[in-house]
Amino acid sequence: MNISKRSVALQASPIRKLFPYANEAKKRGVHVYHLNIGQPDVETPQVFIEAVKKSDFSVLAYADSHGWEPLRESIAAYYHRIGLTYETEDIIITNGGSEALQWAFMICCDPGEEILVPEPFYTNYRGFALPYTVELKPIPTRLENAFALPDDATLEAQITDKTRGIALSNPGNPAGVVYSKDEVCRIAYIAMRHNLFIIADEVYREFCYDGQEATSFGSMTDALDRIILCDSVSKRFSACGARIGSIASHNRDVINAALKLGQARVCCPTLEMIGAKALYDLEPDYFIPIRERYERRRNIMIDALQKMQGVLCEKPGGAFYAIAKLPVDNAEKFALWLLNDFREDGKTVMLAPAEHFYQTPNQGVDEVRLAYVLNTDDLSDAMRVLDSALKQYPGRFLR
Ligand SMILES: Cc1ncc(COP(=O)(O)O)c(C=O)c1O
Repeated sequence: MNISKRSVALQASPIRKLFPYANEAKKRGVHVYHLNIGQPDVETPQVFIEAVKKSDFSVLAYADSHGWEPLRESIAAYYHRIGLTYETEDIIITNGGSEALQWAFMICCDPGEEILVPEPFYTNYRGFALPYTVELKPIPTRLENAFALPDDATLEAQITDKTRGIALSNPGNPAGVVYSKDEVCRIAYIAMRHNLFIIADEVYREFCYDGQEATSFGSMTDALDRIILCDSVSKRFSACGARIGSIASHNRDVINAALKLGQARVCCPTLEMIGAKALYDLEPDYFIPIRERYERRRNIMIDALQKMQGVLCEKPGGAFYAIAKLPVDNAEKFALWLLNDFREDGKTVMLAPAEHFYQTPNQGVDEVRLAYVLNTDDLSDAMRVLDSALKQYPGRFLR
């Protein structure tokens, strides 16, 4: 029996694929600092669990395929607070932002059609696109140029008669880029000129530093019918395990298609939707100390990286990731060596090799993505350990 070619083509998560080696290192008594995965250590607000505890029912029944209406109302109220005009009927609840994105790819494209994505991009986009045989076409952005988007002509040269949309995460994973209002407008106008959808992945919306704010694609009023806004409670409220996301659109066809996809998988988990409503009802002040906490961590990590000999790293403006170019022959080999062969005072670090965040072959082979989701003491120590590792790595390669 053969399984389908497309299931064979599925990639294992590059963020998770080194986990068995980390587990082995831990069994050997090594302390592993996880810089590889965006699992925030911020406490999930207690209101989530309190709302679940207070819920009162005799049967835990199926929920509406649109999602629990009070949660959709709370998300609409949250959007209104940040100046966006999505109403309850424009919002469908999904199993995490991941399902929202997967649906968005499916809704925009027939098999073989294309979505443009600035690379490096969140590597799971591949896993979202592949089941629907959607082709991801990279728009190259590079570390040496602070991952800035190319000019309109370069960008538009990538558009073919098969291109159906542009997908972007803003603030971005993996490079932490925050697109300026100008860039967001530019993308919106390109989409309008070429009749493309915009899949706007804004799950890190609140995590912008240095006094910046992310411009939401949902504020591009001339383009609203082509914008598919994907959101999630995972990072916003440090509730990754709740698996609650949403898709919002002013385009009725998009919402109707999303509803049919929702009906096909029946509904999202009821208790998590109850908890998620309490999260979306939090005052906007909730984000202030969290943002400050991430900003402090970013500064510690980037200052340390920029002092390491041979390391190239731009200060990212948002999310909680950075890409760094390392003085190594191959970042994946280095990441494996860190887990298998290295320890400093009984400690090592786990990194995500960045090659898998690029679609263009041989890009990012000496780059890693680092997530700053550790407390400041651990993060400083992780940087000390990484610096020492880079000095000892046999495949060290100074440009
Ligand atoms: C850019 C981006 N989009 C979407 C997601 C998916 O989030 P979730 O499915 O946990 O809501 C993630 C998770 O890491 C992400 O980094």
